[in-house]
Amino acid sequence: MSATRRPGRNHLFVPGPTNIPDRVMRAMVVQSEDHRSVDFPALTKPLFEDTKKVFGSTTGTIFLFPASGTGIWESALSNTLARGDKVLASRFGQFSHLWIDMANRLGLDVVVQEEAWGTGANPERIGEALRADTNHDIKAVMVVHNETATGVTSDIGAVRKAIDAAGHPALLFVDGVSSIGSLPFKADEWKVDCAIAGSQKGLMLPAGLGVICVSPKAIKIAEGSSGSNDRLARVYFDWEDHKKQNHLGYFPYTPSLPLLYGLKEALACLFEEGLENVFHRHHVLGEATRQAVAAWGLKTCAKEPKWNSDTVTTIVVPEGVDAAKIIKHAYVRYNLALGAGLSEVAGKVFRIGHVGDLNELSLLGAIAGAEMAMLDNGISVTPGSGVAAASNYLRENPLSKA
Ligand SMILES: Cc1ncc(COP(=O)(O)O)c(C=O)c1O
Repeated sequence: MSATRRPGRNHLFVPGPTNIPDRVMRAMVVQSEDHRSVDFPALTKPLFEDTKKVFGSTTGTIFLFPASGTGIWESALSNTLARGDKVLASRFGQFSHLWIDMANRLGLDVVVQEEAWGTGANPERIGEALRADTNHDIKAVMVVHNETATGVTSDIGAVRKAIDAAGHPALLFVDGVSSIGSLPFKADEWKVDCAIAGSQKGLMLPAGLGVICVSPKAIKIAEGSSGSNDRLARVYFDWEDHKKQNHLGYFPYTPSLPLLYGLKEALACLFEEGLENVFHRHHVLGEATRQAVAAWGLKTCAKEPKWNSDTVTTIVVPEGVDAAKIIKHAYVRYNLALGAGLSEVAGKVFRIGHVGDLNELSLLGAIAGAEMAMLDNGISVTPGSGVAAASNYLRENPLSKA
């Protein structure tokens, strides 16, 4: 039996993978090349410098791995820590949970600070835990900047202040998988030691290119741990192998050539728009989505405005409604892909991703589709209310600052 043809473009509004600009897709259609040729560094060397700008860093070192974000979590942990090391982590959603799970499975001793889903990292509690750790046993603090499951953004600047105020030397690891390239990220200013990104969200590429920006402090710690017996095992993700090759423009193993060409073009898109404009655009689109949710009379999973994410809005459906049905209906009937509720919030929420390459009218398509799918499933929102609220807001708030 052949699959049903769905005419027109699919409206992809999951919070990653995101829509890929046409010019980035074209840039990825390349013939294979020798990745050890004399010409290859002309492509790769500028990528290391240019990618740093998206992380808000001039002092960091960029490593590019053929991996997804999960691999880059492992890269941060395995290059800097030893078996049994204590790390402090906040858990408030599925991705912070999965990273904690990985740390446990790698043999780290994870001190978990549970926060309510819909909130984020609590700098006061982090500061307290670090002040109590007078022996400095805690080697790293792990925070997910933008919890994609709940649509919550944590204040990394405040976390850094809490670490400094406690006078604690722990490394700061930040998962920026669904923030970097879309939300302001200041790796140098916040002294983030490992900032973690994947290609399929703000970088507007397919999944498969994992990016990490590593501080000089973390580089030194990784170098220092190389001879130690109890260091975590690392092979594929070992920064040392990359360092030997990257400065010459090469990689220790075969890189994904299309993704490197795609990255070059995606960075050009971001820089042409201007990073400040990119961040502003995400803020306006995020706010427009929240206006729609309020007009529907529904609530976001984010418990207070200070937690609102400008890349994903997680919408709580009324009690007794199965959100999974709305998501399936939106896809089958309207060719609209909405994000599913994960783990604790499965069936209770659906997500609208507003991350990457999108504008007012694409977002309004998703809001209209979500509205229709809810109405079709018996949720009594006022027809047109979300679209009206969002479009009124968008008319008054241009996407570009210029
Ligand atoms: C915040 C966050 N961290 C980590 C991941 C895992 O990344 P990947 O699926 O690329 O391995 C995701 C995936 O959506 C994410 O949203």
